Amino acid sequence: MTDPVRIAITGAAGQICYSMLFRIASGGMYGPNQPVALQLLEIPQAMGVLEAVKMELDDCAFPLLAETICTDDPKTAFTNIDAALFVGAKPRGPGMERSDLLKDNGKIFSSLGKIMNDVANPDVKVCVVGNPANTNAYILKANAPNLNPRNITALTRLDHNRAISQLAAKVGSTVPEIKKMVIWGNHSTTQVPDISYCNVAGKAAAGMVDEAWAREDFIPTVAKRGAAVIAARGSSSAASAGNAVVDHMASWVNGTDSDDWTSMSVPSDGSYGIKEGLIYSFPVTCQNGDWKIVQDLPVSDFIQGKMKESEAELLEEADAVKEMV
Ligand code: NAD
Ligand code: LMR
Repeated sequence: MTDPVRIAITGAAGQICYSMLFRIASGGMYGPNQPVALQLLEIPQAMGVLEAVKMELDDCAFPLLAETICTDDPKTAFTNIDAALFVGAKPRGPGMERSDLLKDNGKIFSSLGKIMNDVANPDVKVCVVGNPANTNAYILKANAPNLNPRNITALTRLDHNRAISQLAAKVGSTVPEIKKMVIWGNHSTTQVPDISYCNVAGKAAAGMVDEAWAREDFIPTVAKRGAAVIAARGSSSAASAGNAVVDHMASWVNGTDSDDWTSMSVPSDGSYGIKEGLIYSFPVTCQNGDWKIVQDLPVSDFIQGKMKESEAELLEEADAVKEMV
């Protein structure tokens, strides 16, 4: 029997995890032949609800679920893990920007980063979901210098999936026909959904839509989709976020298709002129459990200007948390 992959998940009694855990336990993230062990972290006040989540996981009798640990001790959660999904954080409400959460949520990432630094395997793969995700990942990376910084990532796969879905609806196509979508930048309203390299059943997407639609409709619709869900639902996206985390990790671990890439927020190495060390969303290919930023894409002046605005926002956020890093 293959050893289980051990996954720490914070905020495990919350909304996102209520759909995501069941997807992971049924093989959606690591595939149908890989057992998983879940190391679920919550704050003490939420342990009762977390026990109920464990009861439901048990009641599913998932063949791939080797073990479920529920704990309010981060050391226990982060010991012996292969991956860590940082979901636990406050969500925003109507009228808020994600960066309004920085002061409260940033502290979670500095303190958990320090603990991970002491107990976790240095090659642990990290995906930060709690908002503002990019800057929380930046804080975590700074507080966990023993970890491989390449493995500290943040989630922009939800934006990537939203962008594919919007384009598919616009051109009357299907999701699998759409390749090479890009989300540049921050998981915020400054993000840059970009169809410049996208093809739809082998045809350039840019030739199938008006430029005005791409600039004035597509970009803001994708960038403001989180707020639209909050307005419609009264609380932030949960099932689609959980699905995106499953996709993010599955692409990273199992690889991207040879004719496609995905979008991941990763530590910038200076590619496309983005300041080194910021956690910025780029198009990446994944192979053998590692990611690589797609290089040398021609970037239009319009997109370049927007990429710089998103970088400037991340620099401002980094400055606002300088005492935590
Ligand atoms: P939620 O309030 O339903 O759940 C959050 C859970 O985190 C709660 O159960 C809470 O007890 C727990 N928690 C708080 N502090 C913790 C800590 N220090 N350690 C462990 N657990 C802790 O929220 P949710 O809807 O699940 O959303 C979680 C986060 O994900 C929010 O910040 C939200 O804005 C963000 N989010 C990000 C994306 C993205 O694409 N990056 C998408 C959707 C939501
Ligand atoms: C989303 O994009 O749905 C999440 O980041 C939640 C939010 O605050 O918008």
